[in-house]
Amino acid sequence: MKNILITGGAGFIGSNYINHLLSTDDESFVVNLDKLTYAGNLENLKASESKKNYRFVLGDITNIELVNYLFDKYKIKYVINFAAESHVDRSILGSGIFYQTNVIGTNVLLEAARKFEVEKFLQVSTDEVYGSLGKEGLFTESTPLSPSSPYSSSKASADLMCIAFHRTFKLPVVITRCSNNYGPYQFPEKLIPLMIINALKNQSLPVYGDGLNVRDWIYVLDHNDAIRLIFERGKAGEIYNIGASNEMTNLQIVNLVLKRLNKSSELIKFVKDRPGHDKRYAIDSSKLRNELGWKPKYDFNQAIDHTIDWYIKNQNWWENIVSGSYKNYYSKQYNNR
Ligand code: NAD
Ligand code: DAU
Repeated sequence: MKNILITGGAGFIGSNYINHLLSTDDESFVVNLDKLTYAGNLENLKASESKKNYRFVLGDITNIELVNYLFDKYKIKYVINFAAESHVDRSILGSGIFYQTNVIGTNVLLEAARKFEVEKFLQVSTDEVYGSLGKEGLFTESTPLSPSSPYSSSKASADLMCIAFHRTFKLPVVITRCSNNYGPYQFPEKLIPLMIINALKNQSLPVYGDGLNVRDWIYVLDHNDAIRLIFERGKAGEIYNIGASNEMTNLQIVNLVLKRLNKSSELIKFVKDRPGHDKRYAIDSSKLRNELGWKPKYDFNQAIDHTIDWYIKNQNWWENIVSGSYKNYYSKQYNNR
């Protein structure tokens, strides 16, 4: 058995990762440590909760005693750290919790991993650590770090810490930096689910600035396939970019959602821009493709259709979210824009 601590496994990417892993692998024993913040949802893990090789633990990655107890109790030899505060706009409304979880939390995990001599520590990072591109060029693994938001600066700090733990303590750390994900179970604060849900409710679709910022979209299962491969075969001390070479402006995304749902473009509302808004992200993932043989499996048009269908069919899932504390966040974020 491979005993893996997966953190943040009740969130969007982590829950998709666990559900897929446990449906295809009996040799892994997964301990999912998640604080169940507003973004964590055990509904996402219905497919995994009764599996013999799965345990859920409610708790915080910044809790040193708990983290050490779990490493000891479950003889943890592998870590995949998904846990994070993940939304840029929330980091602008209040940054403290981002540095607590994303920086201090990663430090607690790294120290425990060192003490219990883990065989692999995979840090799930983001392309946002590189900052913004102009019209040309792609992020490579050697692009200098130049984060723009409290969120991305907290992720960049954690990356630097991971690299230092590898150099100083020979901890077998690998870092992945992926572009924007979409797919089932994504929290409705993020662009694609927000636009799908607002369109379904005939509410306005708030587009920041001129809508011409570019993101490089990847289906969540392609991201997770890459993580699984890097977890198994990635070299300690290395960084791997993950991306599907699918650049689109925000307006292209919004118009596509409206078209698929047969809604009028009059629903689009241009609102005040995000402060520090990165203009363009685009990933060069040739290192991962050439060295480990990864390539994306999902076609964007099919995967976005599937995602839109998922939100149509799983209205209960998102109704439970948008009718709760999300309402306060939404009015703080959008009311005066
Ligand atoms: P998410 O916000 O959907 O989920 C985060 C999860 O972490 C939640 O279940 C939450 O409860 C948990 N969590 C938060 N603070 C915690 C703490 N202190 N202790 C334990 N658990 C805690 O995020 P996501 O979109 O699934 O992102 C997962 C990871 O992938 C993050 O590290 C993020 O930076 C990274 N990432 C995301 C994207 C994207 O497009 N969403 C792209 C690249 C990288
Ligand atoms: O690139 C990877 C990153 O992608 C991850 O590290 C982050 O966790 C994830 O949240 C995402 O960050 P972005 O800021 O790119 O994603 P978001 O969905 O918030 O916004 C995507 C684009 O859409 C961005 O240019 C801002 C714009 N936007 C977003 C919202 C929520 C709008 O125009 N209107 C909106 O209401």
